[in-house]
Amino acid sequence: MALAGRFPQAWLDELRDRADIVQVVSRYVQLTPKGGRYWGLCPFHGEKTASFSVNPQRQMYYCFGCHAGGSAINFVMEMEHLEFRDAVKLLAEQVHMDLPEMVGGREDVVSRSEKERLYEANRQCARFFHSQLWKPENAQVLDYLHGRGVDDPTIRVFGLGSTPARSDGATRELLSQGFTEDELVSAGISVRREGRIYDMFRQRAIFPIIDAQGHVLGFGGRSLGDAKPKYLNTGDTPVFNKRLGVFAANLLKKQRGLRRVILVEGYMDVVALVQCGVVGVCATLGTALTLEQARLLKRYAPEIWVSYDGDAAGQHAILRALDIFDQEGVRARVLDFPDGMDPDEFIRAKGLSGFEALEPMDATTYRMKQEMNNFDLSTQEGRTAYAIACSKHLAKVREPVELENHVKRLMVATGFTREVLLAQIGRTEMIEKERQPMYRHAARPLEEKNEGVDTETAAAEKRLLQLLSEGRVEAGTVTADDFISPERRALAEKLLGGMTPGAILEEMTDETQRARAASVLMQDSGARGEEDLRMTGDCLRILHKKRIDERIAALQQEMAQQRGEDKRSTLLKIQELMKERQTAGRKE
Ligand code: GTP
Ligand code: MN
Repeated sequence: MALAGRFPQAWLDELRDRADIVQVVSRYVQLTPKGGRYWGLCPFHGEKTASFSVNPQRQMYYCFGCHAGGSAINFVMEMEHLEFRDAVKLLAEQVHMDLPEMVGGREDVVSRSEKERLYEANRQCARFFHSQLWKPENAQVLDYLHGRGVDDPTIRVFGLGSTPARSDGATRELLSQGFTEDELVSAGISVRREGRIYDMFRQRAIFPIIDAQGHVLGFGGRSLGDAKPKYLNTGDTPVFNKRLGVFAANLLKKQRGLRRVILVEGYMDVVALVQCGVVGVCATLGTALTLEQARLLKRYAPEIWVSYDGDAAGQHAILRALDIFDQEGVRARVLDFPDGMDPDEFIRAKGLSGFEALEPMDATTYRMKQEMNNFDLSTQEGRTAYAIACSKHLAKVREPVELENHVKRLMVATGFTREVLLAQIGRTEMIEKERQPMYRHAARPLEEKNEGVDTETAAAEKRLLQLLSEGRVEAGTVTADDFISPERRALAEKLLGGMTPGAILEEMTDETQRARAASVLMQDSGARGEEDLRMTGDCLRILHKKRIDERIAALQQEMAQQRGEDKRSTLLKIQELMKERQTAGRKE
């Protein structure tokens, strides 16, 4: 099964065509046709009115509520929690398409089978450790786990194990199964020392680390007493990198429709929470949260609850994790534990009901609460500095209603008025009594920016992209160079190159970027009948004028530095451009 390299584009195009996005989505969502599209309740966020839409021509879906969007393949990835490759395989199976010869990545073919060997070695090793747990000579490990409150069913759920009595027990077992020494060393199961080969893990309780596909990637080993290190983890191997995976990904995958994932720090935290009946729990593997892990986790639920230890180190780690989730565009909240407890200790003390009674705190509230530790709020100086620090966090809160709540609390804590705080935050528009008109006046200068409302050029570019998606632009009328924004120019290039919107979205790995593109590509240009020609012309004129304006502005800057003849010639150029601008504004 040579599945290394990439799928050929043409084959993917055919797959998307044959799978038909309406068919694919219909397996999960009840769709109703309306106006050339299909509508249904969004499977990615809870809703009562349908804002999830599928457009068969453009081979894409988009939710106007939560901005999820993409191709049929993206949809299967999200619904089934699959990697791209596996989603493709699943779809191909459903439409009876054979998998193609992969392009590129020859060497991968070798390393692929090598990887399979290592997965298999790990799997057999995990089975071996698990079987060791029930042997009388390893009773101290079982006693240790029991002593920490782990029961036998939970031991089986996680496949926990024990190292064998002999210091090379696992190595011998796997050698007898036909694995080579090199393979065992490469998998991190064995270590060579002075010409001999031993087990990497000794006198430890074993936590196998299993990914969403069920591969055993490596192990965590807990020492039984105070022996150091407390935890020993498999180092980086060809199949394991602790920065990429999480512990208990295999259990996450089984939970459908999770509202949130709970992220904890330790193996034991996961085990304890799961045993008490909490679902959707996982842990990072002894490192600070990475972007890759954040990306992985957002597959499983719309929200992550960070539940780290309540000690100072834990609180610091929470702030770092919140920043990472922010960067990845993932909604995160914090479960804060009292008295420096970790989740394991907390749930043992307070039970499931105590755990469920905890209110997760939104990220901003948590950040503001933590800032309190940095200032002395009993002095005016401290309160002022605290208000400034919090305002930096609040400047990132988009929703006015959320901001209002935070501001109210900050007013109480600092004594400043709402107006002053909003000014500090930079949201003075929330102070003004009169509402700003939402429409844009036709005569408004082009360069004026208004957050949340498109500039004329952005609107024109979007309209053009929509016309292109609808196939309503005559060949040769529009080129990618007509676009000013690099992001939209790239979209135009792909549409002009014949890619469907679905295929374009599929290539985007950055989800915010994909959401932005999906929202443009899903909407209709609104052109009726013959209007498209005029609309295209209008858009092009707007962009042409904008480019002239930019050139004029650049020349004006240049001119400010110039004298004499140079200055005069620049002025001439500017005047010419001004004339061109006037004609450009006129319709032919
Ligand atoms: P218990 O004492 O068994 O309850 O552990 P814990 O889960 O409370 O551990 P702690 O909060 O100290 O650490 C959280 C996670 O960090 C662990 O699950 C490990 O993944 C990792 N970790 C802790 N100690 C060590 C160590 O000594 N070495 C390494 N490599 N990782 C560690
Ligand atoms: Mn602990």
